[in-house]
Amino acid sequence: MRIGSVEIGPGALLAPMEAVTDLPFRTICEEHGAALTFTEFLSAEGLTRGAERVVRRMWPSLGGRRFAVQVFGRQPEVLARAAEMAAEAGACMVDINMGCPARKVTSGQCGAALMREPALAATIVSAVRAALPASIPVTVKQRVGWSDICINAPEFALRMVEAGAAMVTVHGRTRDQGFSGQVRLGAIAAVRVALPKQIPVVGNGDVKTVDDYRRMKSETGCDAVMIGRAARGNPWLFRAICAIETGAPVPAPPSIVEQRAVWRRHADLVVEHATDKMRLHELRKTLAWYSRGLYGGADLRGRVFSESQPQAVIDLGEGFFAVLQARERARADTGEVPVADVAVRCLARHLRRRGEVGDKHCVG
Ligand SMILES: Cc1cc2nc3c(=O)[nH]c(=O)nc-3n(C[C@H](O)[C@H](O)[C@H](O)COP(=O)(O)O)c2cc1C
Repeated sequence: MRIGSVEIGPGALLAPMEAVTDLPFRTICEEHGAALTFTEFLSAEGLTRGAERVVRRMWPSLGGRRFAVQVFGRQPEVLARAAEMAAEAGACMVDINMGCPARKVTSGQCGAALMREPALAATIVSAVRAALPASIPVTVKQRVGWSDICINAPEFALRMVEAGAAMVTVHGRTRDQGFSGQVRLGAIAAVRVALPKQIPVVGNGDVKTVDDYRRMKSETGCDAVMIGRAARGNPWLFRAICAIETGAPVPAPPSIVEQRAVWRRHADLVVEHATDKMRLHELRKTLAWYSRGLYGGADLRGRVFSESQPQAVIDLGEGFFAVLQARERARADTGEVPVADVAVRCLARHLRRRGEVGDKHCVG
């Protein structure tokens, strides 16, 4: 897919997520086939003021891989300067947040509030476009509208493109919906129809499985899909999507050995890159993600939050996966399925049917 002059490979994009898409998480997703990752949204005002807390989050991807920086704000000249800073930090793309529903953002008339001010939003896009070299595209991430009575995604997106946006991502909910209710695939499809063919439209919202991915693509006609929450602890979703896009067989779900190895790599990246203050919290969070849907995971999560030392969290994780590996080996040797596993499988199947968990790697 081509975004302005930037060519990106097949596969899904990792969504920007505040306090989630830090360098360790982005790295893991990139290593599993995410076509592009974004920083969490960064306050343009904070960046230009040089606020250390904000500037530090503009982490370039490891290994020289391309990455996008997302910014938010409402003053065109401030966003333009922030975009220049992103370019100086090595971003291949600057994305402008016009979709955040959080009151702390919309009360300052930023994020999704800009969908109610298309003229200002367009001025922002053209100011950012003018501030960047032609090789760095400006993109927009928006919602389908502010509320049920104000669905303006197609006209809004077209206006952003006319102002210079080279790609539009649409989270298929209104601002009022927040993160609940149905994603409106029809509204994403309407954006695809409204924009010129050479401008990629990215569909976003509730893609948790390869079936969701296929549905998002087929029902909206979108050029690519962006995945957020489902990637937490499940970077293998990117691998599966890459396989679909390249015509390769969809890989089997990861073994326990592989899950342990990827959790451990993630944890090691956290140890290396997190600040002293955040390390413990990030390690707990990471282990909680990777243990989701696994036998004994709920018990582990109960215990992980009472550990107060980073190494203790890692030891807990190692012990957890060692037990699972031993169980898997024992099962392979005897061919037996312990009674407890039958119950866990039934529960997992039941939850899957109700759509409460993805098809990541639930026991069974
Ligand atoms: C914890 C969290 C933080 C988020 N932070 C951002 C953000 O910084 N910028 C942004 O554009 N969207 C943000 N989002 C929205 C996601 O990018 C995405 O649009 C939304 O989660 C829907 O996609 P999903 O169903 O695949 O998660 C955030 C979502 C979550 C759950």
